Amino acid sequence: MKKLPANPDFHKNNRETLLKSLSHNSVAIIVANDQLNRNGDQDFPYRQSSDLFYLSGIDQEKTVLALCPDHPDENLREVLFVVKPEPVLETWTGHKLTVDEAKQISKIRTVKWIDDMEISLRDMILSSENIYVNLNEYVKYQNPVAYSAHRFAGELREAYPAHQFKRLAPILTEQRLVKQTYEIERMQEACDITGAAFERALKFVNPGVYEYEVEAEITHEYLMRGARGHAYQPIVGSGKNALVLHYIENNDECKAGDLLLMDFGAEYGNYAADCSRTIPVSGKFTARQKACYEAVLRVQKEATALFTPGNTIDKINKAVWAMMEKEMIGLGLFTKADVDNQDPANPLFFKYLMHGVTHFIGLDVHDVGSKYRKLEKGMVLTLEPGIYIKEENIGIRIENNIVVEDIPFDLMANIPREVEEIEELMNQ
Ligand code: GLY
Ligand code: MN
Ligand code: MN
Repeated sequence: MKKLPANPDFHKNNRETLLKSLSHNSVAIIVANDQLNRNGDQDFPYRQSSDLFYLSGIDQEKTVLALCPDHPDENLREVLFVVKPEPVLETWTGHKLTVDEAKQISKIRTVKWIDDMEISLRDMILSSENIYVNLNEYVKYQNPVAYSAHRFAGELREAYPAHQFKRLAPILTEQRLVKQTYEIERMQEACDITGAAFERALKFVNPGVYEYEVEAEITHEYLMRGARGHAYQPIVGSGKNALVLHYIENNDECKAGDLLLMDFGAEYGNYAADCSRTIPVSGKFTARQKACYEAVLRVQKEATALFTPGNTIDKINKAVWAMMEKEMIGLGLFTKADVDNQDPANPLFFKYLMHGVTHFIGLDVHDVGSKYRKLEKGMVLTLEPGIYIKEENIGIRIENNIVVEDIPFDLMANIPREVEEIEELMNQ
């Protein structure tokens, strides 16, 4: 993976902004994600905690950041603990950050070894009334086992039962929601790399290719362009597989006459892109596929205007569902009279579009933020209307990433989505 230059001032500013929201006499502790074992002597690829990366720029496991702005010793106001680069460790897993390197990346004044953390951290905690712990508060987050930050919070509670414990997540969520110029630039790069991968896939797809071969084309383009890889498991689903919302097997043959739905996004500098495109395997949409595709595309274009300050995900979902309901009537899936008589708790459109059509995106593909949060300039969200008609083997989703502005800005404006563009690129 290509090494990207660090941006120490970005991470330093993020810490300074965070400190403004902490109560006096507090220590905030942010811990790295676990390095998880895959099986005997093999680990899953490491992904840093987005919060820890945001606040420090450190992409290394076994890292802890402790912020204690009111500590009397200025060397203990901001401390980063990193793993010590021992020769045996480095023989197996390569270079680990030195103190100087960690300081350069993060602009943190004091860097210590993680094995010496206990004494310094105890000093910081005993100088504080409040301990901010950082749990994952994403509403759909599910984890049957305790993750690193959760375990750490439990240990602190046990060790310091008389302290006040506070939640860091609501503060960091607010902070991460509005993207800074530097972040939007990285996201634009992630989107551009994703677009290049799509154009590569367009040239490659033909009847007879396998879904995993299309995935391989996409992966190739990502890595060649300096992305870490996929921001999430890519979906490459042809025919009936396009109807499976989280299809990730990607192991079928793409057959003439079928649609191919790809939901894929590069991760660049820890920032995600999240794109969906649907194309005809044969290089030309049938009349019915084209009618359905253009219905979804019309809605996507019209709905882009909804990403303005003051709106919410909840309201955008409802507005886009209403637009799609109208298109479904146009496509003959049901009639206006059917809608007038439907059970409001179980609307007809839901049979053909059963998911939300927008979520925040940033360091995480489903980034922090609630669906009731009023949008502000600089927030970035996906817009992903779709239609899934089982009876006709038609699954279509088109997904772009939009920056909230008075005139919303589409980071994927350059990724082809018109019928003519797609057909032309496939037939070159
Ligand atoms: N690729 C995940 C999503 O679209 O939400
Ligand atoms: Mn997606
Ligand atoms: Mn999405």
